[in-house]
Amino acid sequence: MKTSIYATLAAVAFALPAMAQDMGDAANGEKEFRKCKACHMIQSPDGTDVVKGGKVGPNLYGIVGRKAGSQEGFKYSDALVKLGEAGEVWTTEDLAGYITDPNKYVEEKVGDPSLKTKMTFKMAKNQADVVAFLAQHSPDAGAASAGDAAEKPATN
Ligand code: HEC
Repeated sequence: MKTSIYATLAAVAFALPAMAQDMGDAANGEKEFRKCKACHMIQSPDGTDVVKGGKVGPNLYGIVGRKAGSQEGFKYSDALVKLGEAGEVWTTEDLAGYITDPNKYVEEKVGDPSLKTKMTFKMAKNQADVVAFLAQHSPDAGAASAGDAAEKPATN
C-alpha cells in the first residue's frame, strides 16, 4: 500500500509544475505586463491601481470573463465592438490568441478582414504568462474558464 501512495505523490509532484507552466506563470506575467502598461492600466472598480498605466487602451481589470469591447467609457474600434457583438467573452485562451495578433484574431472570429483594431501591439512570446497575471485580477475568471478559478485565479 505504502508504495502506491508514494507513487501517487510522486506523480502529483511531477504533474503540478507542468500544469502551472501550461497555464502561464503569473509572476513572470506581471513583469511582462510592462509591455502593456504604456497603453493599459489595471484599476479595480474602487479606484485601486493594481498597475498604473496609460489610457490609450481600456482598463484591463477583470478582463477574463468580460465581454470584448465593453469597458464603459472607452471608445473602441468597430473591430472590437463587432467582436463583442459576435459573442466574444474573453477566456484565458482567447486572450492569448488576441494579444498574439489582434487584427488576425478579430478577422478569424468575425470573418471580416477589413476590420482593424486600435491595438498596434503583438506579443510573440510569454502570452500565457501575461494572461495568467490578468486572470489574477479578474473576479469573473472562474465563470470564463471551467474549473476552480475562483479559488485559485493565479493558475487560470
Ligand atoms: C500601443 C498601445 C497598446 C499596447 C502596447 C497594448 N495594447 Fe491592448 N489595446 C490597445 C488599444 C488601443 C485597444 C483597443 C482596441 C480597439 O478598440 O480596437 C486595446 C485592446 C486590448 C484588449 C481588449 C480589451 C477589451 O475590453 O475587450 C485586450 C485584452 C488587450 N488590449 C490586452 C493587451 C495586453 C495584455 C497587452 C500587453 C501584452 C497590450 N494589450 C498591449 C492598445 C495597446
